[in-house]
Amino acid sequence: MDILFSPLQIRNKTAANRFTAQAMEGNDADSGGIPSDRTIERYKKLAAGGWGIVVVEAISAVETSLARINGLFINRKNIDGFKKLVDAFRKENKEGLLFFQITHSGGQSGKFSDRTSITQGNEGYRFLSSDEIEKIKESFVEACLLANEAGADGVDFKMCHGYLGGEILRPKNTRQDKWGGSFENRVRFLKEGICEIKARLKDKNFILGSRISFYEGIKGGCGTAAADDITEDLTEMLEILRIMDSLDMDYINVSAGIPAITGAVTRPTEPSKELAYHHLRYAKIAKKMIESEGRKLKVIGSAYSSYKDKAPEMMAEMLSKNYTDFCGFGRQTFADPLLPKKLLSGGKINWCILCSGCSKLMARQINDGCIVYNDYYRELN
Ligand SMILES: Cc1cc2nc3c(=O)[nH]c(=O)nc-3n(C[C@H](O)[C@H](O)[C@H](O)COP(=O)(O)O)c2cc1C
Ligand code: SF4
Repeated sequence: MDILFSPLQIRNKTAANRFTAQAMEGNDADSGGIPSDRTIERYKKLAAGGWGIVVVEAISAVETSLARINGLFINRKNIDGFKKLVDAFRKENKEGLLFFQITHSGGQSGKFSDRTSITQGNEGYRFLSSDEIEKIKESFVEACLLANEAGADGVDFKMCHGYLGGEILRPKNTRQDKWGGSFENRVRFLKEGICEIKARLKDKNFILGSRISFYEGIKGGCGTAAADDITEDLTEMLEILRIMDSLDMDYINVSAGIPAITGAVTRPTEPSKELAYHHLRYAKIAKKMIESEGRKLKVIGSAYSSYKDKAPEMMAEMLSKNYTDFCGFGRQTFADPLLPKKLLSGGKINWCILCSGCSKLMARQINDGCIVYNDYYRELN
């Protein structure tokens, strides 16, 4: 257990342990995109649970393209709502590192909002012009600076799971302008965004990371070598990590899949739980490259809920072999937000049973959470 609870420095801050509460949308924001009392209660619970890092769920940098009807978005007008969340979290736990995940839902936006496409001819989706992508990048920068102002310890610049950041990165993005085609053009959004944040950020301790789907599982997706190839090739993914490291970013949150298309890859369910081993492999590959090249990027691995009560053992193995720095849990944070604290104190843990109940509520566009251990969500089901 010691290694699970060993502290680790990330930039100039210290995570108290190796448990990461991954971003998990609850679809319960108040109108105006701000955290509601229910949202804040969820993060207070995670604070009380003693997670080393807590990533606040997808927060849109624009209010027009949302995947969830009650999704969070951040802007100058509503920043006080986010300050309230940070204050509530810190009141419970002064040590926990709190990151905001900044996103744009792109083609994953709901029918109720502006569904965009980065390629032409995608019926039902509005093609984004070059200038619009530039403006979205500026919105990401603004949102990350606002996260800093709201008191977060860092941000997750979301490039994963088929949302806009991921759509831009993949080889299938064959746009003819500066945002598509060559690898250099496809990483421009991330590169320029981070450079602009760095240039404007006064707080040099602010942590910058990104979540990336190492392999999306679609033809021409992230983790393939070409627009017409479906097989896994991680060359570009590792190159992105080198770029992140050279931009002085602090962590990579390694994920996989596109929940709306290759959902089992992102969050394996009971019948597909062995798919989680790919997440271990991706983290190990990332960590090996980082170590062998003397880089400093930290690695957060994903999908640890898939191991249920064997998760602590899996964490110990991955950490002791130096295959990852942090272990990320998604659904388990819904099933039992107090996991780290209970592991230390010996309390009874509600292990996630990988039933997909929370994902189904999310797909119905209503508040989502654990239908097995939480009465409120059980009744919604
Ligand atoms: C209901 C639900 C909401 C999620 N919301 C987000 C999100 O906001 N951002 C994100 O990067 N991933 C999100 N995910 C993915 C999780 O963070 C995590 O990667 C996935 O559940 C696999 O990890 P696990 O096996 O520990 O649950 C969500 C997953 C679920 C089931
Ligand atoms: S609803 Fe099912 S999958 Fe979701 S957190 Fe609860 S037990 Fe896990």
